[in-house]
Amino acid sequence: MTVETFPGGTRPYAEVIGDPIAHSKSPVIHGFWLEALGIDAEYRATHVTPDDLAAFFAQRVEDPHWRGCNITVPHKVEAMAHVGDPGNVRGSIGAINTVFRQEDRTLAGTNTDAAGFWAPIADMELADRPVTVIGAGGAARAILWALSRVGVGPVTVLNRNPLKAAALLSSFGLKGQALPLGPAAPAAALLVNATSLGMVGQPPLTLDLSALPKDAVVYDIVYAPLETPLLAAARARGLDTVDGLEMLIGQAAVAFAILFGQDPPRDRDAELRALLTA
Ligand code: ATR
Repeated sequence: MTVETFPGGTRPYAEVIGDPIAHSKSPVIHGFWLEALGIDAEYRATHVTPDDLAAFFAQRVEDPHWRGCNITVPHKVEAMAHVGDPGNVRGSIGAINTVFRQEDRTLAGTNTDAAGFWAPIADMELADRPVTVIGAGGAARAILWALSRVGVGPVTVLNRNPLKAAALLSSFGLKGQALPLGPAAPAAALLVNATSLGMVGQPPLTLDLSALPKDAVVYDIVYAPLETPLLAAARARGLDTVDGLEMLIGQAAVAFAILFGQDPPRDRDAELRALLTA
């Protein structure tokens, strides 16, 4: 077994696991909140390869100082095989991003991406209003699941491969349509980019937004850069926008409460955002 043990000894700790992992922002976010709340615990990034995933969980479940972990690429689906599902969130979304130990010492997994996505737009009135989601990968799954729970109008999923989009719509019981990603966005109250298009090193997402109404919100899950071509185009039209740091911080906040038993101080988001973009 080549799983790293945590070099800290006796303090409680949690971590984010992935392969690769060096890029993860989770240690900055959780570390900021731990310090702000004066919690004597640590949060770190641990490199775990797919071959080591089973050994990782077997080792951590026995460690009394371990509070749990967040899970990033490529383990969000595979990790489900190692944990139970207390809230039935795991099975419905088909991916997990948070694992913790239950009272009976077994591992449980859940997905906080859906709640993190929804939090910044929770006060939007979307009943019967059309929504467009771009993408049909793992991030889109959590977003479409969230939309299926809150009740929205017809959902259009635009994807390079529209067959994947159609499969997702039907698996979440959403009414709407799946279309190939084209040059223009259809009219919608909410437009979400759930792909990596626009991220540093990826092609931009260039969409004609002229069909969007004046009160539409454009939401991009990409946070590097913070001002993506999509959000720049939306702001140029005077539309409200939500950037990817909102969802990143939102999913971390729900995970932090699970891992450390306290809500993070969201009144300090401005400082945290400055830290994340420094
Ligand atoms: P994630 O877990 O981040 O959602 P993913 O599961 O690999 O990542 O999904 C990536 C999404 O971005 C998919 O919707 C993908 O489109 P396909 O399903 O057609 O592959 C989309 N995507 C990635 N690169 C793209 C590109 N160059 N052009 C258009 N869509 C792209």
